[in-house]
Amino acid sequence: MEVSYEHRMEALILPRWHRRLTRLSAAGFLLAAAGSISLHAQRYGTLPVPPANPLTPEKIALGKKLFSDPRLSGDGSLTCASCHDPAHGFADHRAVSTGILGRTGDRNVPTLLGRGYGALQFWDGRAASLEEQVTQPISNPLEMGAAMDTVLSRLHADPAYTGLTAESLAEALASYVRTIRSVDAGFDRYMSGLPNGLSDLAREGLRLFEDKARCYICHGGDLFTDEAFHNTGVSWKEGALRDEGRARITGKKYHKGAFKTPTLREIANTAPYMHDGSIATIEEVIEFYDRGGNPNPFLDENIVPLHLSAAEKQALAAFLRALSGSVRDGTP
Ligand code: HEC
Ligand code: HEC
Repeated sequence: MEVSYEHRMEALILPRWHRRLTRLSAAGFLLAAAGSISLHAQRYGTLPVPPANPLTPEKIALGKKLFSDPRLSGDGSLTCASCHDPAHGFADHRAVSTGILGRTGDRNVPTLLGRGYGALQFWDGRAASLEEQVTQPISNPLEMGAAMDTVLSRLHADPAYTGLTAESLAEALASYVRTIRSVDAGFDRYMSGLPNGLSDLAREGLRLFEDKARCYICHGGDLFTDEAFHNTGVSWKEGALRDEGRARITGKKYHKGAFKTPTLREIANTAPYMHDGSIATIEEVIEFYDRGGNPNPFLDENIVPLHLSAAEKQALAAFLRALSGSVRDGTP
């Protein structure tokens, strides 16, 4: 019991995984072998749920149905899942999104894995909760392009949706999105005390991730994100800023080109990468960080040239690939 408590607390607080592993792996391995710790139950902390919208199985099920209902889009051609495809880690494979009538959006579709653990939603954090976020793609002319009144009157024709309001629709969608997560990756098995959860190469990658490569500074914790906004320079190309990012919301100069740190869970399944989908592969992401991002006046102080060797880059890539596990949705 003492081991699992400590394990849980450290998982919540510290991204410095390997240190606790050297202490815990022997005991954890024995406990796991004896079946007394679940292999992934403790990987995440408690899911924060707003008191005004408690999670219920009914709401989650309704939200799941709505998520795949084309009546939520103006021309009936798109569902949430068209862009947030469960088969692709709840993201898609386009650089930027494609909405109704082939309209091109301006940003890459982010994965929805673990969004219930984050507060601010969107790459620039402009929505303060999932309840606030989930109706925005419906009305966004570049996404589903539908008026809420039209959506509700269409849905009311279906007995399954009797009594649905804009508010209950948002609550149901938010409840469902809260359940979307990835569990039981090689990384989780390793953290639960099973040494062969990670290959030797991936284990070396983990060491680099939280040391020389500095990734953990922003991609720390069980969700691999600090949920904060950083300027890595992705948006700065040839000295020009392509997307203001967080600055468009806060008006702060130092937020020019800052975006929310994304989770790295299922990262092998959600290419292309970054808010503009401008980086195609994990290897190219590593090259981007190795050269110290894109130079600009507001570059985050933690983005610096890394001088990784070819072998170190390979190890880091192997670790990122070990963050794929089972994608779960629809259960609390
Ligand atoms: C046309 C493609 C498209 C459709 C359809 C779509 N989304 Fe999105 N979604 C996006 C894009 C692009 C973003 C990021 C936009 C931004 O940050 O400016 C996003 C962001 C999000 C986020 C925030 C994730 C984060 O990391 O902060 C959530 C949650 C979300 N969408 C849920 C939904 C739900 C629920 C639906 C259906 C009602 C939906 N989306 C429909 C493209 C789409
Ligand atoms: C200073 C904070 C910071 C550090 C350090 C950092 N990242 Fe990031 N990472 C971010 C932010 C912010 C983004 C989104 C940037 C954007 O789209 O403009 C991002 C995006 C990514 C993505 C794309 C994810 C997606 O879904 O599109 C990957 C992969 C990634 N980082 C891996 C790494 C690795 C590997 C390291 C270490 C070599 C690292 N990061 C170091 C903040 C950081």
